[in-house]
Amino acid sequence: MTKKSGSDNNILLIGGAGYIGSHMLRVLLENRVTPVVFDNLSSGLRHFIPQGVPFFKGDLKDLQDIRTVLKKYKITTVMHFASSIIVPESVADPVKYYENNVSSFVNLVKAMREAKVQKMIFSSTAAVYAEPKKVPIPEDAELVPSNPYGQTKLMCEQILRDTAAAHKDFSYVIFRYFNVAGAYDDGGIGESHEPETHLIPIVLETALGRRDVLKVFGDDYDTPDGTCVRDYIHVQDLAEAHYLALKAIDGKARNQIFNLGSQKGFSVKQVITAVRRVTGKDFPVKMFPRRPGDGPRLIASSQKAKKILGWVPKRGLDKMISSAWEWEKTQ
Ligand code: UFG
Repeated sequence: MTKKSGSDNNILLIGGAGYIGSHMLRVLLENRVTPVVFDNLSSGLRHFIPQGVPFFKGDLKDLQDIRTVLKKYKITTVMHFASSIIVPESVADPVKYYENNVSSFVNLVKAMREAKVQKMIFSSTAAVYAEPKKVPIPEDAELVPSNPYGQTKLMCEQILRDTAAAHKDFSYVIFRYFNVAGAYDDGGIGESHEPETHLIPIVLETALGRRDVLKVFGDDYDTPDGTCVRDYIHVQDLAEAHYLALKAIDGKARNQIFNLGSQKGFSVKQVITAVRRVTGKDFPVKMFPRRPGDGPRLIASSQKAKKILGWVPKRGLDKMISSAWEWEKTQ
């Protein structure tokens, strides 16, 4: 057998050049874990990957690409961050989402099985939950995605469950992300989506004068101030949860699903107030009709992650805004 490249304990980051993947990469490097990055650079940025980290430009839609990487490096665990993530786009073009998020995922699991790579940490979403009956939302809440994006993530979750049930040597950890925001402390990476649809970067762009007005999508929801309430979580806290999962995937986190949120809700209006306070900038705000697919309130119960992983988010909304602001100003 030919000797594989790199260390004997590489973690493969699929989508490691993207917003969340590149933050994960920093956390792994800080903890002396050796990453290998696989990314098609469709939205990820090459310069988000530090020099010296092995990088393979490839696409999961091409089975051969992922086979090549798994053959070249001895990978113990795959962390999967690469997906199409824009909810309204998934409603308009569902086939793109089933292809990018599900077909590609089948290729990944197939190649992992062939290469005997047995562990995956998977990025799922709060969009798998139905309109919540209980808030904060526990992991065993009803699962009825209200859009194709959430549907694709739930399908991937099912593929993992079935694969782990069929093959006892295969295991997973699934994380359902709530609203991820913020940037790494020492700069250099941050949220950079094209087009940008997420609230915090859009408010910051408006504060910088790059947008004329902040559009608030709906102020007639059944919430205290009429605007949607979301649970915001700092990207570095999120990455740290993945690191804890990496250490626990063979033990108490094996085949477990965790919400990643702060258990606190902020309305769109509260986020705007916080941005004005943290940045010291004022900017125009205008009410618009509701955006299709938005629910009134999504707040995570994060008790399970606390209990099993010992994970508690350390950074609040102001820190998310200030770190994202430092990054945004350099763009
Ligand atoms: N919003 C505005 N104006 C904007 C942008 C957003 O008012 O310019 C509002 C939205 O209507 C929503 C809130 O801000 O009420 C948050 O919107 P985001 O787009 O930032 O985040 P979402 O809650 O829609 O989406 C996030 C993730 C998705 C995931 C979803 C789960 O980004 O990937 O949570 O519901 F699917």
